[in-house]
Amino acid sequence: MKFFVDSADIEAISDLAATGMVDGVTTNPSLVAKSGRDFKELIGEICQAVKGPVSAEVTATQADAMLAEAAELAAIAENVCIKVPLTWDGLRATRALADMGRQVNVTLCFSANQALLAAKAGAAFISPFVGRLDDTGADGMGLIADIRQIYDNYPDLETEILVASVRSPEHIRQSALIGADVATLPPDVLRSLINHPLTDKGLAAFLADWQKTGQSIT
Ligand code: G3P
Repeated sequence: MKFFVDSADIEAISDLAATGMVDGVTTNPSLVAKSGRDFKELIGEICQAVKGPVSAEVTATQADAMLAEAAELAAIAENVCIKVPLTWDGLRATRALADMGRQVNVTLCFSANQALLAAKAGAAFISPFVGRLDDTGADGMGLIADIRQIYDNYPDLETEILVASVRSPEHIRQSALIGADVATLPPDVLRSLINHPLTDKGLAAFLADWQKTGQSIT
């Protein structure tokens, strides 16, 4: 399972990249606005920090304008992945970009039928927003399971499931059990994956017992 960092915070991204656990990055207009940074400059820095796909989202809503923005974004770095919203214009742009050999991440997915449309349009990634669905009382992880089953029914569909709007380690556990290809995690959720009190307790006990031996390995 690939881990992407869902952030536009270059310091947080760089820190996590140093762990060797980061396979890509996803940004969105809200995350970029929160960073206060120049969009293109920031994407360039992120593409340097992480060599995997870096999702940069278009802000146009008409297909032709999306393609013009995509050309600008693709010119920043070879690992830029163009992100488009799940609209008819977004799907038209996806098909055009896929035909050019560009990777596209189709975002704001909330239904299995939407995911099927994105795959038919040639998306490299589909981003179902599990946390936002949960927030409404819907079953976010149920959507991931549906998309997994649908995509597996049709081997010619090559779109990877990129679980987005992740809120907890439990979303990651369930996504991995279902067989999602990628999850994009806020930095604090990624960091929390390693936490378990018995690990901390066990290590403390090992080290305390070792110290009693008076030995050192080096
Ligand atoms: O960046 C895409 C998605 O992960 C954002 O989800 O709900 O945290 O804004 P959310």
